[in-house]
This record gives sequence, structure tokens and C-alpha cells, in this order.
Amino acid sequence: MSADDAATPDDTALSEGHREAFLDVYETRSPRAQHQLDLFADQWTSKVPILGEETISGPRDDLFHDERIQWGLEALGPITGMTVLELGPLEGAHTTLLEERGAGQVVAVEAHRQAFLRCLVVKNLLGLRAHFELGDFVGHLREYETTWDLCVATGVLYHLHDPLELIALLGQRARRVLLWTHYWDDDVMARRPDVAERFDEVEPVQRHGLSATYHRYGYGTGVNDPTFCGGSRTHARWMERNDILDGLAAVGFERIDTGFDDPFWPHGPALCVAAARPDAVSRHPQPRTRARRWREGQRGPEVEAPWKQAARRLTWLTRRRGSPTRPPEPPAAP
Ligand SMILES: C[S@@+](CC[C@H](N)C(=O)[O-])C[C@H]1O[C@@H](n2cnc3c(N)ncnc32)[C@H](O)[C@@H]1O
Repeated sequence: MSADDAATPDDTALSEGHREAFLDVYETRSPRAQHQLDLFADQWTSKVPILGEETISGPRDDLFHDERIQWGLEALGPITGMTVLELGPLEGAHTTLLEERGAGQVVAVEAHRQAFLRCLVVKNLLGLRAHFELGDFVGHLREYETTWDLCVATGVLYHLHDPLELIALLGQRARRVLLWTHYWDDDVMARRPDVAERFDEVEPVQRHGLSATYHRYGYGTGVNDPTFCGGSRTHARWMERNDILDGLAAVGFERIDTGFDDPFWPHGPALCVAAARPDAVSRHPQPRTRARRWREGQRGPEVEAPWKQAARRLTWLTRRRGSPTRPPEPPAAP
């Protein structure tokens, strides 16, 4: 029997169904980025930029150079060397931008299991250093008493059941916040029945030392879409614009800038907020990350290919027998 025969299951011993299942487990073509992307075919939202290979992923080619993030980072100042907690990374597009801008350590917490796995594919393909966690970011903020230099919370506040809790926790855990969110506006909603029809309850609330009016939003059948990337419950609560800004001020953020403030954003009024506590200070710029230099094609001998870095890290992790579930502690506060 040849070596080839030995590696193939005995056809006569397998039923048709078992033989197909066996063969389906293996990728038999030469390695390509596309094979990794195809693990989640038709589920990608973002178009993942792969250098040197034409690939197909999702339709959104704006997320890897998102102007909202660029605006926020301009408003907040350099993030070089900072510790960053990112809430709901989806597919790691903003994570990539944060590393490109020199963030020291990024921990990104994603609750959607498939999105979390897509983040790992992006991390692998783009050579990111970020640490992705699978779980609820509110639970993470409650549990770990880490103070982050920056917390990035784009596209998440309006997906929460109790958004005031997130604002209160940001006040305890973040020196700076970059937030993009939808908000409720009576006048705008009167002119946007297509958006307003998704809301069913208005509730004034006082929680976590803050107050706001909650507008209950139902996802309806949207949760069945394979690209659904909302919250983990069937309903969320939207806040009003001033309640968001007042809440951030009440929990200690002083310099509060707004941008991309667009009452007629396609899915409802939305704005970007960049806010900093009085104790937030900028650090000195550092060189660009290896991943960025690699993507920019600066492949001198000193720039190691992302997959070689990843292989080295894998060996290191395997030797340590298992990866940590708790994110590494960021460096001490400045
Ligand atoms: C609308 S997407 C925003 C993605 C990205 N941050 C952006 O701005 O483009 C919301 C993301 O947050 C995740 N998410 C929502 N609620 C979450 C929670 N409580 N904990 C962790 N992830 C959550 C969703 O699965 C999804 O990936």
C-alpha cells in the first residue's frame, strides 16, 4: 500500500455520507487568505484588505479606514502606546486602525460567537497583536477593575438593554472614550416613520446615579439575517442625545467633543463623541506597528511577515499550555 493510500480512508468501509463529511473537513488546495475568509462565506460585513491577493469578504470597504475613528483620534490626540479596550469589534476593522495608530495594547470584547471567530481570522491574516475576548463587554467592565487609557465604543450603546450602565462603567474604567451611537430625537423620528416604527415603549429611568429617557427598540426579524450584528437580546434601548452627553459629563468626562452629528443618518440619528477625563494625558509618539509597515509594503529584513509572527506566538502559547482567559494587565497608569 502506498503512503497516499494509507492516508485515504478505505472507501468501501465508509458510507457515502461519511465519505463526503470526511473530505469536507480538509482544505486540500494550497493555502490562501481566501480559504480563511470562506470559513464565513456570506457572513462578512467588512471588506478585509489583503495585501497581494484578490479576495472576497464583505461589502463595507469603509470600516478599515473609518473616518469616524480617524476623527475621534484627531480629537483625542495621539494614542501611541496606550492601553485600549474596544467594545464589540465585529470583525476587527477598528482594531486594525487602532494598532495602525500605535495603540500599545488593544483588548477587544465581542459577544457574537461567529463575529469573534471572524476577528481571529482577521487577526491572523493581518498580523494583529490585539487580544480578542469572547463575551459580554458590560460584564467585562463590571468584573475587571482595570483603568484603560482609551475605551472605543462605536456602534454599541444603542444595542444595550441598559445603556446608562455602560456610561457609568466608562466613567470608572476609561480615561478617554470614543463613541459612535444612534440616539432618539422626537422631531427627527416624526419625519422618519420607517425608523420610528421599530420603537414601542418610552421609559424615564434613574439608574447608576444617572437619569435618562429610554426608547425601547425591537430588532424584529432582523436577528435572522446571517450578517446581524446588534445586541444579544431581542430589544435594546436608545437614549436621547443630551442624556448621553449629560451622562458622560456626570461620570467625570470633561473635554467632550462631538462630530459626525447627523440626525438623518440612514438608520436613525447618530453622532460621534470623543471625551476625556481631566487626568487624561498624551504620551510620546512611537514608531508604527510591524503590521502596518508590513501592509504598507515596507518589507525590509527587519520587518517580519505577520504569519511568521503568528507562528512564533502560537509556539510560545503552546509551550505555555493554554492561553489566558483573563486579558493581560495593561501597564501602570501614567
Ligand atoms: C453594530 S456592530 C459595531 C461594530 C464596530 N464596533 C463598528 O463600529 O463598526 C456591534 C458589535 O457589538 C457586538 N456586541 C453587541 N452587544 C455586545 C455586548 N454586550 N458585548 C459584546 N459585544 C457586543 C455585536 O456582536 C457587534 O459585533
